[in-house]
Order: sequence, then C-alpha cells, then structure tokens
Amino acid sequence: MKILIAVSSKTGNTRKIAEAIYAALPEAELHNVESAPDPNLFDLIFMGFWVDKGTADEKAQDYIRQIENKPVAIFGTLGAYPDSQHAHDSLKNVAKLLPDCQVIDRYICQGSIDPKLIEWMSTLPEEHPHAPDAERRKRWQDASAHPDVNDCQTAATWAVSTLNKTIS
Ligand SMILES: Cc1cc2nc3c(=O)[nH]c(=O)nc-3n(C[C@H](O)[C@H](O)[C@H](O)COP(=O)(O)O)c2cc1C
Repeated sequence: MKILIAVSSKTGNTRKIAEAIYAALPEAELHNVESAPDPNLFDLIFMGFWVDKGTADEKAQDYIRQIENKPVAIFGTLGAYPDSQHAHDSLKNVAKLLPDCQVIDRYICQGSIDPKLIEWMSTLPEEHPHAPDAERRKRWQDASAHPDVNDCQTAATWAVSTLNKTIS
C-alpha cells in the first residue's frame, strides 16, 4: 500500500505533526504540498493543513482539490482548543473539500500562533471581533506550548490506528 503524508505548514506546527506521523509510518512518503507528487498515485493519504479562517489554508486547499476518490485522513493544527466547536467545524469544513473521497479519520491539535498575528490583533480596537480579551489571551498563551510531545505522540498513535482500520 502506497501511503502519502502531504502537509501545508506556514510556521512549522503542522509539519511537526506530519513528522510524528511519518516516524510512526516509515513506509509512507512525506512531502510538503509545494513539492508533493500527484496524490492520486497513492492508496491512502494523510492530508495536513493549518486552520485559516475556519478551514484548511489555501495551499492545502489547492492540493486537496487534486485528490480524486481516495481514502483520506485529515490532520491539522489551529489556535483554538482542539475540543472547541471551532475545531469541530474546521474539520467538518475541510472534509467538505473532499466530496468524492472517503474521509476515514481526523486529528487536530493546538498550534502556536504566529507572533506577528498576535501583534496585529493586539492593536485592534475593543469592539473588533478579534480584539484580545482575557479569554483570548489565555488561549494564545496555551497555544504557544503546542504542538507538544503529547500532541505528537497522540498523532502517531492515531495514524497507526487509521492505517490498521484501512487495511482491515
Ligand atoms: C492568517 C492566519 C489565520 C488563522 N486563522 C485561524 C482560525 O481561523 N482559527 C484558528 O483556530 N486558528 C487560526 N490561526 C492559527 C493557526 O491555525 C495555528 O497557529 C497553526 O498551528 C499554524 O500552523 P503552521 O505552523 O503549520 O503554519 C490562523 C493563523 C494565521 C497566521
């Protein structure tokens, strides 16, 4: 079985998760989307993205559009908490980008937010929907420690179980 791990990562968080998956599935190929081969040459695809405006980032979306009728396991990182409604909706939105594929599994964890984005959001007026309040600042602070060893380990275990499900 030919397995592809394709990943889009701007600041390295999702790439870290992709590498943890690769370490658990050494028979797979790991590629950044910018230089990944045709996904349709593979039997199973682990598709990695970072969440941008509640869905996959644009580079991931461009690559996802090339995938035709394949089993796909999606994984991502985001600033919000992984058990939040936003994380749930983001995964759902990414799955919707793969209408003719079988989305066999999903994994998401928090990832540190680009300091430049935090700097910009810190300048927003109070009434702006992204203006920082205490809750948001706490979330940014929590995100700054991720992905951590535990996130990587969980992703690796998830990937192995996903593969086993696919084979059986
Ligand atoms: C332009 C931009 C938009 C983002 N949009 C969201 C978002 O809609 N929801 C969210 O939870 N996190 C959002 N984030 C946070 C990233 O998804 C998060 O930091 C992610 O781990 C980055 O992954 P990377 O290091 O692989 O690029 C955004 C970050 C940037 C820079």
